Amino acid sequence: MREFLSEFADRSSPACLDCNRLGTGFEDIHSDADLMVRDQDTRQIICSLHNSLRSTLSMNAKRARRIEAGASVRPDDWATVGAVNYDAELQRHNVVLRQAYDICRDDRVLDIGCGTGQTTREAARLAPAGHALGIDVSEAAISRAREAAEAEGLGNIRFEKADAAMHSFPAEHFDIAISRFGTMFFADPIVAFPNIARAIHPGGRLVMMVWQDSERNEWFVSIREALVAGESTPTVFPATPDPFSLSDPVVVEGILGGTGFSDIEFTDVREPVYYGKDVNAALEWVRGFSYTQAALRQLGPAAAEFTVERLRKTIAEHQNEFGVWFGSRAWIVAAKPHGHPRK
Ligand SMILES: C[S@@+](CC[C@H](N)C(=O)[O-])C[C@H]1O[C@@H](n2cnc3c(N)ncnc32)[C@H](O)[C@@H]1O
Repeated sequence: MREFLSEFADRSSPACLDCNRLGTGFEDIHSDADLMVRDQDTRQIICSLHNSLRSTLSMNAKRARRIEAGASVRPDDWATVGAVNYDAELQRHNVVLRQAYDICRDDRVLDIGCGTGQTTREAARLAPAGHALGIDVSEAAISRAREAAEAEGLGNIRFEKADAAMHSFPAEHFDIAISRFGTMFFADPIVAFPNIARAIHPGGRLVMMVWQDSERNEWFVSIREALVAGESTPTVFPATPDPFSLSDPVVVEGILGGTGFSDIEFTDVREPVYYGKDVNAALEWVRGFSYTQAALRQLGPAAAEFTVERLRKTIAEHQNEFGVWFGSRAWIVAAKPHGHPRK
């Protein structure tokens, strides 16, 4: 994950000359992925998509503030901290998502930003006559995903460490591309989604889960309030990759509609996230979040201790007999690829 974050940090300079000239704030979703696209016609299409999106979606101050408000990206070992892990956190989401995927026994499945591969393994089990490919930029996550698949003896599964935005997938190969919170971190969705669309065969589907607006997510709002309340408080969270970048259906429809997808549908998912069996486990999990760590680093020892106690109190308020749960809102976005943009 560290490698992933520094990769993003290095991507601050806009790569698209056209958009660079206009300089209207879309630069933060540009990446050197643009430079990978060698074909001039395709680059022009991408530039014009950037421009039309810029005007329709107006990358405004509200979004800029949202980015500043922080990210929920985990540290290196984000997938497991103490007794909790990311699969446990998303156990309720996963049930809904599995139904939405509706994977058939001979499906070829692509899992984008697969992390440690729970969803890829499930896909492989559901498609014994097909196969599943999990792709992630994190070496650590991929090696854990491989270990888990091997331990289960799954033969129809493969993992690759690569950037899904630029990876050269076989054209029109997959029946379905799935993602559980793995697509919001694309440095440039205008480059990434056409690459995904090209990999899905006509008649196939993209089904991804993304967070709704940060203010609708109790887990985010409560923890942020616990971290920034009081007198000695951190002022900003780090502007690391934005987990809420695909939270606005208008934005997502604009991106997907302009990058090779149609029949775009949104399902409102209201399931809580699980943070642990008790307050101590949940506090350990939340302290593992990179923005919690960054916020605490900005404080002196006494203020940090005070802030952790406030966090503990917030967490305790969310404990019931089944553990610690915070409300969350996510979208399941489903779409179908149409006339793929030529590479
Ligand atoms: C929040 S985690 C979700 C992981 C996994 N989908 C799950 O539910 O367990 C987001 C994942 O997306 C990966 N990721 C981010 N950008 C990516 C990209 N451009 N290509 C491939 N993976 C990416 C990260 O490394 C991380 O593992």
